[in-house]
Amino acid sequence: MPLLVAENVVKTYRLPGAEPIRILDGAALSVEAGERVAVLGKSGSGKSTLLNLLGGLDKPDRGCGARIAIAGRDLVRASEKAKARVRAETVGFVFQSFHLLPELDIVENAALPTLALPAARRPPRARAVELLRAAGLGDRLGHKPRELSGGEQQRVAIARALVNGPALLLADEPTGNLDPATGLQVLELLFGLAGGGAGPRPALVMVTHSEAIAARCDRTLRLEGGRLRPA
Ligand SMILES: Nc1ncnc2c1ncn2[C@@H]1O[C@H](COP(=O)(O)OP(=O)(O)O)[C@@H](O)[C@H]1O
Ligand SMILES: [Mg+2]
Repeated sequence: MPLLVAENVVKTYRLPGAEPIRILDGAALSVEAGERVAVLGKSGSGKSTLLNLLGGLDKPDRGCGARIAIAGRDLVRASEKAKARVRAETVGFVFQSFHLLPELDIVENAALPTLALPAARRPPRARAVELLRAAGLGDRLGHKPRELSGGEQQRVAIARALVNGPALLLADEPTGNLDPATGLQVLELLFGLAGGGAGPRPALVMVTHSEAIAARCDRTLRLEGGRLRPA
């Protein structure tokens, strides 16, 4: 059984006074455990929409018969509570603009997803510290995000994405806000950290504009006309 299955994914945005726009129109995807898949596509083609749906942060259209499941756990018809549980246990997110909480120091930021797990299954704070050290931030542990560069903030976000040991990493243009050299370092960290350490390597679905970055993945898909096809 594939780790991630998405079928018939349709998403329409309806804004008042405007024609509905169908951004996804039957997108489908299947990702094996540990597999790394790059998603290319023009700006506005629906890549972020797709990633949010794959991670259960957003819902496909009602009645389209969409199926999205991670490790056999449904992300379409499940309750919000059940979806939150699947997310906490199986998915790590990395966003283009880092999305760190400004009031929290980087250890608190990296440990945040652990709070969504039941206490008995919660990784210790030391796990967040260990990941931050592995990300080269061992001497910045008490710092707030604003005291860090963009590349360093994205390293914190990667530690946060990995802290619960997810089976699936979803990364939305993780190097998009960084200069090319810093972006490359962040990518190495993403591939390196998500590869080593305890447990099997998570699968990765990564949106990128860079064909060179895509080439580092096992497979590349292009999102066009609301559907995914091999690039
Ligand atoms: N919440 C929303 N409401 C209405 N339209 C949206 C919303 N989110 C995204 N869109 C529109 O859907 C299209 C796809 O957006 P997005 O998924 O962000 O594309 P990409 O990540 O490929 O650039 C864009 O035209 C965008 O304006
Ligand atoms: Mg986007």
